Amino acid sequence: MSDRNFTDILAEKQAQVTELIKACLPKEEGKQRILFEAMNYSVLAGGKRLRPMLILETYRFLGGAPEREQDIVVPFMAAMEMIHSYSLVHDDLPAMDNDMYRRGKLTTHAAYGHAVGILAGDGLLNYAYETALHAGAKSLEECQRIYEALRVLSEKAGAYGMVGGQTVDVIGTGKNFTEEELLFIYKLKTGALLEASMMLGAILAGAPNETVSSMEAIASDVGLAFQIQDDILDVTSTVEVLGKAVFSDEKNKKTTYVSLFGIEEAKKMVESLTERALIRLSDSGNDSADGEFLKNLLLSLVHRTK
Ligand code: IPE
Ligand code: IPE
Ligand code: MG
Ligand code: MG
Ligand code: MG
Repeated sequence: MSDRNFTDILAEKQAQVTELIKACLPKEEGKQRILFEAMNYSVLAGGKRLRPMLILETYRFLGGAPEREQDIVVPFMAAMEMIHSYSLVHDDLPAMDNDMYRRGKLTTHAAYGHAVGILAGDGLLNYAYETALHAGAKSLEECQRIYEALRVLSEKAGAYGMVGGQTVDVIGTGKNFTEEELLFIYKLKTGALLEASMMLGAILAGAPNETVSSMEAIASDVGLAFQIQDDILDVTSTVEVLGKAVFSDEKNKKTTYVSLFGIEEAKKMVESLTERALIRLSDSGNDSADGEFLKNLLLSLVHRTK
């Protein structure tokens, strides 16, 4: 697959994922209409759709039944993007990173006010589970897969996952973290949802436990690399390209991989983590076009510019 080809396919897939998610969003009606508007605003503002794409591509890579994608995979893709979007809405609040731009637009609290911003995050988190529960099992086996997917999703999104990582991140503002502490934060605040995404794809495809664990290990490396790259872009990019504030970490006195080791060392870390993830992926899957796209997707994150 040439680079040009990959870029086109990625853009196409991103648009398809957005359409699938859009169909799962709530209608903007009723007395709480403003809440639905703010929820939909934050999800549809843009974004790379990496996590739902990882769910679908891992499902395909591991031979999940194509005819079951709509019924059992799509609800989890939408749920994951809702949880991710809510995490961003809350991350941008004045009490957290206090940022004004996200996905090329005003942050949700900046556009709708702080109270509705908080509530839009709450609404999205809950609606994620309401949506995932629409996954319709056709057999006892599928029912078990959906149950396991819900277990992983809730755990990785919660206090032992993303929320836990965000907590250690914010309470440590202004403190000097060691590398070990920083990697703990990254594994949870960013790694957990990426781990859940690849695990969900594997679980819903009916992959054995060892394969689910390999996907978790692959995504864990990808998650660390992804957050280190995010730290790099925070100091090397622009708000126009990134669609969100730059120098947010410095403003908030955060220790990052870049502040600890410098940009060159950080770049090397992104590369070596991604390389390790790709070796693991080659050992655990197939050589089909789906496999090639997934590999290229992970590889593309190393040099991503937004
Ligand atoms: C931003 O995630 C938050 C981090 C975990 C670094 P993304 O970079 O995936 O954000 P979107 O979804 O593309 O906006
Ligand atoms: C990751 O960290 C945020 C979440 C897990 C929600 P950042 O605070 O660095 O993310 P950005 O840079 O604001 O997207
Ligand atoms: Mg943050
Ligand atoms: Mg932030
Ligand atoms: Mg950041």
